[in-house]
Amino acid sequence: MIRIQVLNDKENRYVGIQIQDSGPGIPTEIIDNLFEPFFTTKTAGTGLGLAICYDIVQNHGGYITVENSPTEGAIFDVWLPTL
Ligand SMILES: Nc1ncnc2c1ncn2[C@@H]1O[C@H](COP(=O)(O)OP(=O)(O)OP(=O)(O)O)[C@@H](O)[C@H]1O
Ligand SMILES: [Mg+2]
Repeated sequence: MIRIQVLNDKENRYVGIQIQDSGPGIPTEIIDNLFEPFFTTKTAGTGLGLAICYDIVQNHGGYITVENSPTEGAIFDVWLPTL
């Protein structure tokens, strides 16, 4: 399951897209490494997926946050500046 929600911050400086999945979530010991280029836990992963996503979003003045849901899965928030 993938749930997508639109978010806004209080000052309306950013607009967010929240993506939550129903996967296993992210082990806390690797949550700080997710956006590092070539960091992967998959046998055939490049570890570039999230690093590239972060780079693209950052080049547009935004940022991405990640957390585990208290219920299930991982939650990624992609924030982009309002114009
Ligand atoms: N939705 C998710 N739920 C749990 N862990 C995740 C999720 N997304 C990423 N990860 C973890 O972060 C790591 C890095 O992800 P990233 O997308 O950068 O590379 P990858 O998926 O391993 O490789 P590739 O992007 O080449 O397929 C993954 O190997 C996995 O351990
Ligand atoms: Mg990936």
